[in-house]
Amino acid sequence: MAILDKHKAIETHATLLLILSFLVVTIGGIVQIVPLFYLENTIEKVEGVRPYTPLELAGRDVYIREGCYVCHSQMIRPMRDEVERYGHYSLAAESMYDHPFQWGSKRTGPDLARVGGRYSDEWHQDHFHNAKSVVPESVMPPYGFLFNRRIDGRYIRDSLETHAMVGVPYTEEMIANAQADFVAQADPLGDSSGLEARYGAEAFGNAVNVRNFDGQPELTEADALIAYIQVLGTMVDFSTYTPVANR
Ligand code: HEC
Repeated sequence: MAILDKHKAIETHATLLLILSFLVVTIGGIVQIVPLFYLENTIEKVEGVRPYTPLELAGRDVYIREGCYVCHSQMIRPMRDEVERYGHYSLAAESMYDHPFQWGSKRTGPDLARVGGRYSDEWHQDHFHNAKSVVPESVMPPYGFLFNRRIDGRYIRDSLETHAMVGVPYTEEMIANAQADFVAQADPLGDSSGLEARYGAEAFGNAVNVRNFDGQPELTEADALIAYIQVLGTMVDFSTYTPVANR
């Protein structure tokens, strides 16, 4: 056939094949990349999404340090099986303040993007001490040592400042009060009004969880980790959320 004969000319000339392949890839690249220059922002802002509180941010650091992402993803794909198991698919905005993001692709354990509020703090305490005590078939390693590692938020201000440098909207006030807010979140008997004013309902639409997360009098890494786990996926109210495209 005539058309196949013409294709033979390309297939038998390496240079011609190379030049034409390059052209095709260039066109494909331009089609993908050029529209991005005309978008002001690729992330749609969503109500309720706020920067992590100092304690949650410290918990996130523990999460990264312990390599929890090696077994857990934090991104619910928009596929029916995932949405039915984990809840509404993840929005880009929900990880816009994550540096680095924790999406992941390895799921030895379940996705954690919406695990916040699904279990009680006591469940997490038991689970971190010994996962098999609450899920007998679990292969998750124990993390009981986190309950002995005391923290006081001495360095958390630096962490907020660093995140502010890469675009997380921590205000001067949030940075100045970082250590006080850090301690206040795990002390239900203390005064958490400052923390609440900076990160709570009036500022972002949701109250901040203020509790003794690890169930011990001391402030520990377990407090921070559980505070972080309990806020995951809870910032956006999906009973009222509609994507921009459907508005
Ligand atoms: C070796 C793999 C592995 C590592 C590492 C790991 N997990 Fe898990 N995780 C699992 C498995 C498997 C399950 C499911 C069984 C269970 O609930 O224990 C699970 C369950 C969970 C759950 C309950 C999720 C749900 O929806 O039921 C949470 C929360 C959790 N892990 C948090 C963590 C945190 C935080 C870390 C890091 C400190 C961590 N995991 C490290 C394997 C792992």
